[in-house]
Amino acid sequence: MMRILRLLVLLLLIASSFAVATPQSSNTTQQPGLFLGTAWYPEQWPESRWDTDLQLMQQAGIRFVRVAEFAWSTMEPQEGQYNFDWLEKAIALAQKHGIYVVLGTPTAAPPAWLTFKYPDTLRTEENGQRAKHGNRQHFDFTSERYRQFCHQIAGEMAKRFGHNPNVIGWQIDNEYATYSYDPETQRQFQEWLKKKYGTLDSLNQHWTTAYWSQTYDKWEEIPIPVGYNNPGLMLEWKRFVSDTYRSYQKNQIDAIRQYADPRQWITHNFMGWFDGFDHYVVSADLDMASWDNYVGTGQLDPAGNGMIHDLTRGFKRKNYWVMETQPGNVNWSGINNVLDKGEVREMAWEDIGHGADAVGYWQWRSALGGQEQYHGTLVGPDGKPMPLYPEVAEVGKEFAKVGDLLRGTSPVAQVAILHSYDSRWAIDWQKHTKEYDQFANFKSYYKPLHELADTIDVVNPKAPLDEYKLIVAPNLNLLPEEEAKHLLAFVQAGGHLVLGPRSGMKDQFNALLPERQPGPLASALGAHVAQYYALDQPVPLTGDFGSGEAKIWAELLQPDAADTKVLEKYGKSNGWLDDQAAIVTHNYGKGTITYVGAWLPDDAMTALAKWMIETSGVKSEFTNVPAGVEVCRRTGQGKDVFIVINHTKQPQQIALPYAMREQLRSTPPLTEIELAGRDVAVLTK
Ligand code: GAL
Repeated sequence: MMRILRLLVLLLLIASSFAVATPQSSNTTQQPGLFLGTAWYPEQWPESRWDTDLQLMQQAGIRFVRVAEFAWSTMEPQEGQYNFDWLEKAIALAQKHGIYVVLGTPTAAPPAWLTFKYPDTLRTEENGQRAKHGNRQHFDFTSERYRQFCHQIAGEMAKRFGHNPNVIGWQIDNEYATYSYDPETQRQFQEWLKKKYGTLDSLNQHWTTAYWSQTYDKWEEIPIPVGYNNPGLMLEWKRFVSDTYRSYQKNQIDAIRQYADPRQWITHNFMGWFDGFDHYVVSADLDMASWDNYVGTGQLDPAGNGMIHDLTRGFKRKNYWVMETQPGNVNWSGINNVLDKGEVREMAWEDIGHGADAVGYWQWRSALGGQEQYHGTLVGPDGKPMPLYPEVAEVGKEFAKVGDLLRGTSPVAQVAILHSYDSRWAIDWQKHTKEYDQFANFKSYYKPLHELADTIDVVNPKAPLDEYKLIVAPNLNLLPEEEAKHLLAFVQAGGHLVLGPRSGMKDQFNALLPERQPGPLASALGAHVAQYYALDQPVPLTGDFGSGEAKIWAELLQPDAADTKVLEKYGKSNGWLDDQAAIVTHNYGKGTITYVGAWLPDDAMTALAKWMIETSGVKSEFTNVPAGVEVCRRTGQGKDVFIVINHTKQPQQIALPYAMREQLRSTPPLTEIELAGRDVAVLTK
């Protein structure tokens, strides 16, 4: 007995000394599994009000605030004079309420003293005019002087808060979006080109500059493209912009990392489908990606939104945060309607289902002045809860209840959809038909695939592909040799690769390949594209995936190998396409390669998705889920957690694949569940 007692005392001593020795790590382990949060601007309100705000947040289950990302003029009211005392107080007060802090660096909105004294830090618009003070994002992303100021303010913040136990992470800047067209940016672009191409001969050749006498004899002659321009020049400008935002961001990461504890992560809040730069490049130096998820006008589009979640998760190929989302309505869309009752909760759970570990509402309280007075908030200008507050508080309760269950889990997919900015840009610059909306094209593949396979990854073509059974590339217009080899290796090893229209047409310089589509994949496909057609009229289709009409785009596929199978054909239309192949498939190595030449109608797409899933051996647990019900799966820590969301307004009966417990309501094992309109279930074995 004494020996047991002594052992217990010893264990207690070890445990307590550990707690004293590592206060920060013990603090970190108390972090919630799922974070609910909000953007909070204490600098806009008297200090006497902060405690009330934080108390209201705490009551709603809010566990993080993002602060300071627009507070430069408060943190550095004059050049070199820093004032962080207010922020320190706000962080400490938040801690008292169990609320963690994400610090934003304020560089999206440089203060008036800075831009007035150093006008060269202001960006230049396309028309050559300098941006003026009074809005945000008026900085020049290549300006060395501006970068020094950014380094300084980020470093000063990190010096002060880099060891603060209540600060868990950093957001660099806010929603990168703008470029600059000033002479210094142009010079840097020319330098960048020189480094990449080495000689002007090489550049002239890759860009076919003999065309329209564009031939460059000096690097200084190369312009920044404005409007439609040489495709090679346009693509390299976007790549330069991507590298420039990466270095703009790295400058601040380095400043923070000089002082901050490694446990403090660094992110940036991206903007979903926005393609102003290559997000794979810009996320490379971040610890984690995050994005700002806004509906704008109308209601949630579950498939479109889910696809962007998966796109964002693919930037780092791991869980991410929804740093901002709309508390009911925005102020910047065509019609700023308030989301339906229950829809904000529905959205929050879709976020989590796709691998977000946090949902942050923008913003907490209406600023009395400033450009966003009409935006949705959780408390009104009077400081009292808005009608949405109880719904968010319900989400807060639910996150607290199942946060631990979801900790350490993430979506694990057998299917990947390939996404490349280079290809997206290339198509958008020369759509060939104004109807060619790439978001719609991408979604036409994503939606039926996600309905059949609960989890889909959206990744860059350079990502490792071994873990997948099925790879779908809806728009791989640029297909550099290396990427083609990577895809062929996947097929050779037994995978199924499905290419969509406009695939394999161009090289890495955005030049046409001197061969027919899909270029380096044509011989493995045993077929090629004889001609592509922008459609002014729909074209009939028949075959394995049913009859219907192709619209917008059709490619005439020409089988080259005896064993290439035609799965779908065109009917009578413009004469050229009559009875020609629209979809073909061919075995290659241990795998299969399929080419879809037409923009398919929904029914054919659903049948195609079913075939892709079945022939690729992709398995999922839920089958026969009612239309409008989404199943998401997060895996890890030896378990699967299913998040099932009824996106319809009607109740739905859902058959469960095996006896499951509903964790939000703590039910016993069930084999069927009824969900009310817009309701959610979190299910485990
Ligand atoms: C985001 C931005 C926020 C706020 C919000 C309004 O794009 O990051 O600062 O402006 O939009 O919807």
